[in-house]
Amino acid sequence: MDVSKFFPPQEKVAYFDSAASSLTALPVLKKMDEYYLQYRSNVHRGAHRFTRKSSEEYEGVYKKLAKFFHAKESEFISVRNCTEGINGVALGREWKEGDEVIVTDIEHHSNLLPWLQLKKKGVKVRVLEAEMDGSVDAEKLRVLLSKKTKLFAFSACSNVLGAKVPVEKLAKIAKEEGALILLDAAQYVGHHPLDLGRMPVDFMAFSAHKCFGPTGVGALFHREGAQLEPWFVGGGTVRNVSTEEFSLLENRERFEAGTPAIAEWIGLGAAIELISQIGYGNMEAHEKKLVGKMLSVFLDAENVKLYGPKSAEEKGCALFSFNVKSLAHHEVAVMLDNLGFALRSGHHCAIPLAKKLGVEGTVRASLHVYNTQEQIQGFEEALGKVAKLA
Ligand code: ALA
Repeated sequence: MDVSKFFPPQEKVAYFDSAASSLTALPVLKKMDEYYLQYRSNVHRGAHRFTRKSSEEYEGVYKKLAKFFHAKESEFISVRNCTEGINGVALGREWKEGDEVIVTDIEHHSNLLPWLQLKKKGVKVRVLEAEMDGSVDAEKLRVLLSKKTKLFAFSACSNVLGAKVPVEKLAKIAKEEGALILLDAAQYVGHHPLDLGRMPVDFMAFSAHKCFGPTGVGALFHREGAQLEPWFVGGGTVRNVSTEEFSLLENRERFEAGTPAIAEWIGLGAAIELISQIGYGNMEAHEKKLVGKMLSVFLDAENVKLYGPKSAEEKGCALFSFNVKSLAHHEVAVMLDNLGFALRSGHHCAIPLAKKLGVEGTVRASLHVYNTQEQIQGFEEALGKVAKLA
């Protein structure tokens, strides 16, 4: 399927940094423009025609999310990003001294720091060591689980190594011990389907900007019955207020204090509609081909060290972290930029993982459905030129 009509052109620069932020799709921009140009107004406040229209569009996104993920409308909360969603679960639940949370040692900071903060409340954070290629051994998880484990928080796909994660298997094992599951789906939703009707996860968070949507908005899924209290309060969350006290609304509105990111939330709705239109099947088939080609580029390249899985079967996402012998990661990224390729360099907000790999950082190529085989051919040449300087 030719998806180029949905995205801004990449004539001058091949965009290989979608794991940091994807391109924003043109239908998403159109939908947000419509809001700003045709019915710009606040939501859930007042009765005039514009606020009625914006409230209708805004509410419609919960319906779209429910259909998209096979869940209930009331199970989604509008948040600023995946990070806020994860913090919301850490802040919005009750914890007691001795409770345990398990995380892996390859999480990005957003799925680590919120749990480390809980140490102040006496919560113990136990660390599940992933293998060096980023795969996770379910047996190691079993050893860490106990009746004290309240939550297992893990990423559906590492933003550095891109190894395939047996999400359902890990979630089931942890649930058998009575733990709740938080799935960080930041790198997943833009690439693979997630059926929350089947998948035994209690919380799931993602950002719109990694799946064709705008920045500044994301969604937190919280399964009905999983205890969660608002971590912010304010306008739009209350049933009644006096100068002495307040009572909160019952439904998800109690979580969304203040004017939300209206245009962005509507943009998120357009982004998931576009994913449905393109189809995960088409996206996965296309990305699989890109992964195969990229792996052969890296495995053939001299003076280049690739981190993470070396075979397409073991790859869960189309992202590749590497270093070029004797060159600094930022230096390599600048050289590649000069040759027309935008790649991220650094620790990718996952310093513990960089330490585990024994590096300060890496260069990362991350692809999406709009990248092409031709771009990868060009990249092979560019990487060859840079690697010659090693
Ligand atoms: N976690 C994002 C990345 O991997 C920001 O680039």
